[in-house]
Amino acid sequence: MFLFIIATFISLFSISLGNSSAQLNIFEIPFFYHQHFNPLIAMTTLQELHNGWHAGEQAVHKLLRVPTSSRENPTSSGLPPSYARRVTISPLVALGALDDQGRPWTAIWGGERGFIRPVAQGVLGLQSIVDKTNDPVLKSLLDGIPDGEVYQTADGQGKPISALSIDLESRDRVKLAGKMVVGTLGARPGTDSLGEVQMALHIQESLGNCPKYLNKKTIRAHIPSPELVSNTLPLPEEAVKLISQADMFFLSSTNNQTMDTNHRGGAPGFVRVLTNSESDGVTLVYPEYSGNRLYQTLGNLHVNPLIGLAIPDYETSSVLYLTGTTSLLVNPPSSILPHTKLAVKITVNSALYIRDSLPFRGEPGELSPYNPPICTSTSYSPESATAIASATLISRTLLSSTISKLTFFLKPERGHIIEPWKTAGHVTLDFSTELDNGYVHMNDDDPQSLNDDYIRSFTISSPPPTEVGKNGVQFEITARKTGGPVTGLLFRHDYKRVPLEIPVVGFGGGELRVSSGESKKKRVFVAGGVGITPLLSQVEDFEGGNDVEVVWSLRGDDLGLVGELKEGLRGNVKVFVTGDVKDEELEKARGLGVRIEKGRVKREDVLGLKDEDRGMRWLLCAGEGMLKVLQGWLEGEDDVVVESFGY
Ligand SMILES: *[C@@H]1O[C@H](CO)[C@@H](O)[C@H](O)[C@H]1NC(C)=O
Ligand SMILES: *[C@@H]1O[C@H](CO)[C@@H](O)[C@H](O)[C@H]1NC(C)=O
Repeated sequence: MFLFIIATFISLFSISLGNSSAQLNIFEIPFFYHQHFNPLIAMTTLQELHNGWHAGEQAVHKLLRVPTSSRENPTSSGLPPSYARRVTISPLVALGALDDQGRPWTAIWGGERGFIRPVAQGVLGLQSIVDKTNDPVLKSLLDGIPDGEVYQTADGQGKPISALSIDLESRDRVKLAGKMVVGTLGARPGTDSLGEVQMALHIQESLGNCPKYLNKKTIRAHIPSPELVSNTLPLPEEAVKLISQADMFFLSSTNNQTMDTNHRGGAPGFVRVLTNSESDGVTLVYPEYSGNRLYQTLGNLHVNPLIGLAIPDYETSSVLYLTGTTSLLVNPPSSILPHTKLAVKITVNSALYIRDSLPFRGEPGELSPYNPPICTSTSYSPESATAIASATLISRTLLSSTISKLTFFLKPERGHIIEPWKTAGHVTLDFSTELDNGYVHMNDDDPQSLNDDYIRSFTISSPPPTEVGKNGVQFEITARKTGGPVTGLLFRHDYKRVPLEIPVVGFGGGELRVSSGESKKKRVFVAGGVGITPLLSQVEDFEGGNDVEVVWSLRGDDLGLVGELKEGLRGNVKVFVTGDVKDEELEKARGLGVRIEKGRVKREDVLGLKDEDRGMRWLLCAGEGMLKVLQGWLEGEDDVVVESFGY
């Protein structure tokens, strides 16, 4: 894909870049790559493992009683072009590496979109200003390479790295792991403290995550003036203050073969300093909430407890780097962290706090309500989960043997004004008062409860109200019974006899709106089963000849859901029915005005809808398995919006 540039390169080594004195331009040196770097080489031991999970991940899944045997690791080999594109438009990358003592560190580079981008198949080039004296990842990766000289290596070799590319404006992120295969540090004229790093990263594994519900930030490039405040323990007061105000940090870990970099987020103060003194050492703790239940970081920490953190201050460009040893706290006492079932304690071994060290700044944007479990994420903290309203179940209609439509009455809590939520948005409900009976070490009746905060998000399937007054409004959700405790409660509770009132902690989503707005692009919505729900709330979008096309995979047993489609939409829908289904039921559904075909959705059913002239926007909402297949088919498409409800 990116190899078209191979032909012309020979003398590019002498091109100098910007104000850098480095005799290298990482974006124009494909000769490094063309003969080697087969992206499938060194394609890891992952495939040999149980469904792609390594021993540490399996151990943590077992400890937390998360069923893994049936679930495949969603990580992809290499760097699919769709991920490469998402990385290219992300202004920041958190990068993890191991120092010469095997300790992980994390740094954050970039500042402008495009600073990292593909330079060959499976290879990302990056160029960033760095704090050349203090940056621990730079030191780990280029130690012993004199400034201006180039480290390079042959295929299958290189220094292990992991990265998280993150766009805090769109909340998009892609996880990457592989090797640094080329690296150099150039000087910047007029400064001794800054350098310009260039690297080529051979990506062996990647995982694109759905939009995150982080606090949004607008990132701008910034030329820092680093000032080392402390490189010893305990932490200086300024660093403790930074921790107490941080609403996110980045962390890296290793399973002794590959590395992993990710982030954690929450309300400011979600990381706590437990001790910070000569005598007690420096210990921190942060909560791990039920997110995607992949537990890639915890899996690594099980194999190797070392961790490296970077905690940025987006306002001042100051940063706290630390590396330490972790222990997992299952159901910690509330004196350590209240309302937490799972937390990570870090005993800090080494730390650096530097003022004005990062090459970017960030302005706070839209705050996030709780980050829902429908997406891969953990940015939730108890402080942010205060109820803003209550939702009382007022009716329940069975649509199929496992799917029901539930109507709630929403009433704002005193002092809270609820704005109308977005079309195709979701509501986040806190079931903990109904379901959380405290900690039970081995609860075989409900084995998954061990790490469950009982907070769930559901797509709202009724159109949003024009306003939510003090007296409240109704809304509907359309959900499938999963066998878990939350849908068990919703589907079984005798609400006519005993009212069921659930605290509402937030609203979010809305990414799957099909409305075209200004865009002339053709829109195709592909849904699996209850993945159709974001579409059910979108009424106005189909009036006036809107030409969205809908491909919907549905089990025969769920055909009753077809009647929930708005009439104006039915002509645009093609249903692919799987499993047993009676002919008269098919006829009945056809009578509602949808097209129906028996069998699974095939590649051409989706790609056949492509309109090259107008451009395409693809909207996908399905379980993990179907999403992975769809994303494979749509590789190369640049406008794909995804929501998974697999978790
Ligand atoms: C290069 O140096 C000039 C003059 O010192 C400065 O104005 C400019 O911002 C620098 N460019 C970059 C990319 O650092
Ligand atoms: C991984 O490496 C660490 C540090 O070298 C070591 O303590 C640990 O035992 C290793 N784990 C395994 C499973 O090899």
